[in-house]
Amino acid sequence: MELGSVSTASKSSLALGLLSAFIVILLTTTFVRLSGAHAGALGASSAPPETYLPSISDIMIGTIQPRHERIWQAEQARDWDFAAYELGNLGGAFRRLGRAHPIEQNTSLPDMIESVTKQQLEDLKSAIDRKDDAEFGKAYDALSEACNSCHQALNHGTIVIGRPTGATQSDLIFGKAGR
Ligand code: HEC
Repeated sequence: MELGSVSTASKSSLALGLLSAFIVILLTTTFVRLSGAHAGALGASSAPPETYLPSISDIMIGTIQPRHERIWQAEQARDWDFAAYELGNLGGAFRRLGRAHPIEQNTSLPDMIESVTKQQLEDLKSAIDRKDDAEFGKAYDALSEACNSCHQALNHGTIVIGRPTGATQSDLIFGKAGR
């Protein structure tokens, strides 16, 4: 009876020992896994963020098109200074477009931009410098045709650019600078 009870006691203490060893292993592996996952999460957050490269259409809507419109609106308000300023920005936007997307449909975009817009931008600049409305109108239309010739060449002939029409919704006030 006594022997039996001793052996039962030692059996149960062995079981208890095994159980606590099992719990220790379980806790340890869980902790290692969790700290591994934590390190992974930290690693992910310290990785550099993915760089956003605006698409050609993003750049068109975001900068090329609004500048094209503003040049027109400024001339309508006879704010030649602003027209000159915005024309410079349009040229800069075209250069950045070429750097951001050097090749489009197996064509060099910077070369394409240069060949279709260089002369037109220069003519527009000289019309603005001379404050010549008639020359401005011609040069502006020629620039819009340049926009369209590239759209056609790159299979986007559906995008047709011309003189802005309708009331200006712009919050820019032309011709009031320095007054
Ligand atoms: C060198 C070529 C080139 C020139 C020059 C060019 N574009 Fe574009 N434009 C494109 C291409 C290509 C797309 C279509 C991009 C796409 O959707 O993948 C486009 C798209 C557009 C769009 C439509 C964007 C949209 O998502 O709705 C507008 C608006 C636009 N261009 C305005 C202009 C204006 C205004 C000019 C001239 C001041 C101009 N573009 C000159 C190549 C050009």
